[in-house]
Amino acid sequence: MSYNILILGSGGREHALAWKTAQSPQCQQLYIAPGNAGTSEVAINLELDILDFDSIRKSVDRLEIDYLIVGPEAPLVHGIYDYFMDHTVKVIGPSQAAATLEGSKSFANAFMAEFNIPTAASHDFTSQTVEDAINHIDKINGKIVLKADGLAAGKGVLILDDKEEAKKEIQDMLSGKFGDASKTVVVEEFLDGLEFSVFVATDGQSYTLLPVAKDYKRIGEGDTGLNTGGMGAISPVPFVDKVMMDKVKSRIIEPTILGLQKRKLDYKGFIFIGLIRVGNEPYVIEYNCRLGDPETEVIIPRISSDLMDIITGIYSGNLSDIKVDIDPQSAATIMLVSKGYPEAYEKGKEIIIDKQASSSLFFHSGTKVSNYDILTNGGRVMAVTSFGNDHQKAVNRSLKNISQVYFEGMTYRSDIGFDL
Ligand code: AMP
Ligand code: GLY
Repeated sequence: MSYNILILGSGGREHALAWKTAQSPQCQQLYIAPGNAGTSEVAINLELDILDFDSIRKSVDRLEIDYLIVGPEAPLVHGIYDYFMDHTVKVIGPSQAAATLEGSKSFANAFMAEFNIPTAASHDFTSQTVEDAINHIDKINGKIVLKADGLAAGKGVLILDDKEEAKKEIQDMLSGKFGDASKTVVVEEFLDGLEFSVFVATDGQSYTLLPVAKDYKRIGEGDTGLNTGGMGAISPVPFVDKVMMDKVKSRIIEPTILGLQKRKLDYKGFIFIGLIRVGNEPYVIEYNCRLGDPETEVIIPRISSDLMDIITGIYSGNLSDIKVDIDPQSAATIMLVSKGYPEAYEKGKEIIIDKQASSSLFFHSGTKVSNYDILTNGGRVMAVTSFGNDHQKAVNRSLKNISQVYFEGMTYRSDIGFDL
């Protein structure tokens, strides 16, 4: 069988998914909306707003799309799975109710408490309970973690050393610093350790594991400076061995899937579990209802079997029988970003890419075509992914091949994997 597939999104994650999907013998025609300059090399870009479900439906009907793979969280949190419930197209992603695991930290914490999934101890506060919040902060020893309950474009988490600053921040948050997203603020216990990311594909009953990855979110070398969407990633993660993965499966993944069933939350897509290793035990930092970016730019290239086996498996009830072949080599990706990112930056800089005979993959994030030129069109511009016998060799190869890309103000971290 072969299928018409539409991917929603425009980042490096979606370019990596499109690159892999296009290689599948099960892929008849591949579309991506809105895509970027890179995706137009492997798929047909469609100009669509990913939150305009009526327009997406028209394209799905006209192009006879069989699978709709949703890259970013926004359409999922807005209910695209439910919107297409009575349609023949198969949406890869969770229902709106299940996407609340990402859309609300307080919902996710209650879910984990109910199913005994290890995570940081937490308390929720609203504008009605500011006094309680202040008293609570007074009792915390050490770092204070404040989280806007809802989606705040990756900016809603503050980790503070100072109690007075934390009290001021929580009041600002509760009075609308992040709009509706911070109507409820979660105060969490601070967990100290190394983070890693686990990805599973699930049909809501069974699951299959994808490669493990670790991303680097801070703009500056040595994990300093502001948080970004992600400056690079590696896969596999050396400290995540079989013993650790067995704990992750039995204490976290399996109870999560069971919890989805018990709460009757429909889920036919990818779960991205952000984890932290404290001592030798895994704890959940967050759930995401989609794949990670830039983690996808390292996990997808490591999958050597057909990605469409996983996609179709999510709907055919045999997901646990699908064999996912994983390349044992290490993959690393380095994100090239615009000068100034994650604060104000300019777009529209011409990108010169000389990737002839390159030993790296160039996944576009914020790029667009204009009059045959490729221009920057976002803060994160391009992810350069390479393989190596270990992550350092993979990073070195990407660093070498970055010299094949040029745009004004190009910025990147050369220390991805430095802490391992
Ligand atoms: P989140 O949006 O929940 O992923 O949080 C963003 C980042 O904040 C995470 O990647 C962690 O680095 C950090 N973080 C979140 N929660 C905690 C916590 N309870 N303890 C320590 N660090 C945390
Ligand atoms: N790289 C983290 C994320 O995709 O949320």
